[in-house]
Amino acid sequence: MSTTNGSYSSAMAACDVVKLHKPNFTPKLAFILGSGLGPFADEIEDATVIPYYKLPGFHSCSVSGHAGNMLLGYLKDVPVVCFQGRAHIYEGISADPIKTLIRTIKLLGAEMVIITNAAGSLHEDMPAGSLMMLNDHINYQFTNPLIGPNDEEFGPRFVSMDDAYNAEIRAQFQKVAKEQDIKLNEGVYLAISGPCFETHAEIRAFKILGADAVGMSTVPETIIARHCDLKVAAISAITNLGAGITNEKLSHEHTLKGAKLAVGSMIKLLLGFVENYKQART
Ligand code: HPA
Repeated sequence: MSTTNGSYSSAMAACDVVKLHKPNFTPKLAFILGSGLGPFADEIEDATVIPYYKLPGFHSCSVSGHAGNMLLGYLKDVPVVCFQGRAHIYEGISADPIKTLIRTIKLLGAEMVIITNAAGSLHEDMPAGSLMMLNDHINYQFTNPLIGPNDEEFGPRFVSMDDAYNAEIRAQFQKVAKEQDIKLNEGVYLAISGPCFETHAEIRAFKILGADAVGMSTVPETIIARHCDLKVAAISAITNLGAGITNEKLSHEHTLKGAKLAVGSMIKLLLGFVENYKQART
């Protein structure tokens, strides 16, 4: 199926496919899973799995650690949609498939998207295996997914990025983390385009700019989600220290290894959040 243009009609076409697979299903929460964090999807009950190649406008993933499936089902009786894998700018694609994914979430009726990613830390006291919730970001990808004609059906031409990472949801995550005895760092995520990891000089520069972690995703999704007024929370699984902070050699395999150190507490935190969400609404 060819990639369409991320517009209203392409997200509607993806929704139509979802409705054929799982009629009358309205997810409340959406999860996007980063590198090595796919095992969270095993927690979903009564899961319907739709590979991205069956969804018009979606991008079939080319990166190992990203399965390329949409799952629809229940976590603690809360209807959820979950994405195992995402498109990245470094794959040489336009932002269209990222728009289609986020706008499909919106049209399916979810109220928030919880984005996870793998990231490098800029602080030695936030090592591999740590979790960092984003409280802001720096877009260092030198592009913006909303460049081009505005899709008025979804949002305005000019988008405020105040409170991009919803403060109320962050407070709920901190409450859950405390209850579960999980250390949940908070900080600024800086997105590069990739696919190179950073140079040592870039890591030093990003620290001066005010970043706490660095990665190759999440910022386009957040911008598109805020444009259509979806609430956003985002959590990084720290998989390594930034290039040059120690002698560790960075590679995708190293990222996947690092993600394994964080996946247990990430799953516990996300499930705790869903439980908290359910209790607040019953
Ligand atoms: N840099 C950029 N992206 C990443 C890193 C990193 O150090 N680790 C995991 N994803």
